[in-house]
Amino acid sequence: MKKLLIASLLVVVLLLLAVNVASANGGPHGDYAAATDACAGCHRAHTAKADKLLKEAGKTYDLCISCHGAAGTGANTNVEDGVYLSSRDDAAGDGNHGAGNTPDNSPLLGGGFVNYKGVAVTSTHDPTGVVSGAWGAGDVRGQMGTIDRALDCASCHDPHGSPNYRILKETINGATVSVAQVDEGASKDYDTANWNTDQSNVCGACHNPYQHAGADTTSGTYTHPVDRNNKAEYMPPEYTVGGVTVSVPLAANNYIVCQTCHLPHGTSAQMAGFADGAGPAGDSALLREDNRGVCQACHKK
Ligand code: HEC
Ligand code: HEC
Ligand code: HEC
Ligand code: HEC
Ligand code: HEC
Ligand code: HEC
Repeated sequence: MKKLLIASLLVVVLLLLAVNVASANGGPHGDYAAATDACAGCHRAHTAKADKLLKEAGKTYDLCISCHGAAGTGANTNVEDGVYLSSRDDAAGDGNHGAGNTPDNSPLLGGGFVNYKGVAVTSTHDPTGVVSGAWGAGDVRGQMGTIDRALDCASCHDPHGSPNYRILKETINGATVSVAQVDEGASKDYDTANWNTDQSNVCGACHNPYQHAGADTTSGTYTHPVDRNNKAEYMPPEYTVGGVTVSVPLAANNYIVCQTCHLPHGTSAQMAGFADGAGPAGDSALLREDNRGVCQACHKK
């Protein structure tokens, strides 16, 4: 009986440890203690300047940017310029680090909302809370449909932490989203892609009909496969001609995911000729390479 009790206590302890590991969130996000001060970093109980009791007037965007912006000091990840500044929140001694794998000035995996790799962006997800239509949301590719709320940082991320990679929300636009953590804890790496095979799920929550592993002709159009292995003959997904090299990252097991071709925050890729005007008018569709460099990285035509 005693042995059984000890054994079951051990199981409970192991489970608690497992939960702890699975929710190893970044920054002031999640894993809060009973007497935490963290809530006051973002909320005011009686004198809030926006709804959800947020302390910044411009709602969620301004709040996040107060630490993660170009002029922020509370986070190393400057998502406006798409760059990792390794000493920005060191002064606080807040124990929020753990990005030892990310060198100073590295371009961030998400891209940038204002600049990326030192160049002004040509396409972004607008995170300021004004757009509530997304391509494919009504189940038709290439058409705008309605999503459940205006897009902002908290459409995709849960500021209170999450068991998903990069505190991505567990429910987005009404869909359950599971995106496995791959580098949480001390080895967090904000500049080298290291995704699991389920990374496309976050995109599929708003752009559902784009997520197909095989042939699909929903609503009368065809779409490039995702969530499947790259072909051996296209490896490595990198191509150089005339001194120009293009490359795309793959998820675990050489999987093609949305982020193989797209950046989730914003890109400064340049479009010209046929590539300018394919897809959303007048921009670069969040593509990670100029023109159709993403195609050449694999197909090498
Ligand atoms: C008080 C400062 C502060 C505020 C406000 C803040 N963050 Fe953070 N956040 C941090 C710090 C510090 C980190 C750790 C990484 C770093 O230094 O950039 C972090 C990390 C993150 C990460 C990466 C998590 C991971 O798994 O690596 C995401 C995503 C994020 N924040 C989103 C947000 C969003 C969305 C908001 C607004 C709702 C927000 N943050 C507001 C300080 C802040
Ligand atoms: C990094 C900033 C940040 C921190 C720290 C933070 N919150 Fe929030 N909180 C937000 C944002 C942003 C929203 C609005 C989310 C949305 O729009 O979906 C929110 C919404 C909420 C909500 C309403 C929606 C919900 O998720 O239930 C509650 C309740 C809440 N926060 C409580 C807390 C408590 C309690 C703490 C401290 C343990 C805390 N928050 C810490 C940013 C933060
Ligand atoms: C459309 C969904 C979406 C929106 C909107 C969004 N993010 Fe992200 N964000 C992501 C994804 C996906 C990643 C993971 C990128 C990777 O690791 O490849 C990420 C990564 C991050 C990171 C880690 C650093 C990096 O670039 O990899 C931070 C910090 C962050 N986001 C903060 C924010 C803030 C602040 C906002 C609002 C200004 C925001 N995000 C808006 C999807 C989003
Ligand atoms: C093989 C590269 C590649 C992959 C993988 C990829 N895309 Fe795209 N995407 C593109 C290109 C190129 C465009 C520009 C328009 C075009 O050529 O159709 C685009 C355009 C878009 C657009 C803008 C609207 C439109 O149809 O033009 C959305 C939304 C989109 N992609 C979502 C996704 C989502 C969601 C995933 C994953 C489920 C994904 N993409 C995977 C290459 C890719
Ligand atoms: C919370 C909903 C949401 C999620 C999740 C989301 N998107 Fe979007 N996406 C939108 C909205 C809204 C727009 C149109 C407004 C805009 O451009 O900001 C859009 C536009 C786009 C566009 C066209 C951009 C342009 O140039 O006009 C592409 C490409 C795209 N998304 C790809 C992705 C990919 C890849 C992911 C996953 C990393 C993703 N989206 C996740 C809501 C979402
Ligand atoms: C990460 C590698 C990768 C990238 C990037 C990529 N492809 Fe593909 N592509 C594949 C794989 C894998 C297949 C499936 C091949 C098969 O099963 O024979 C495929 C299939 C195709 C097909 C055949 C589709 C069919 O229905 O038979 C075409 C055409 C194509 N890709 C064009 C493109 C274009 C255009 C781009 C750029 C927008 C692109 N690819 C980017 C790997 C890639």
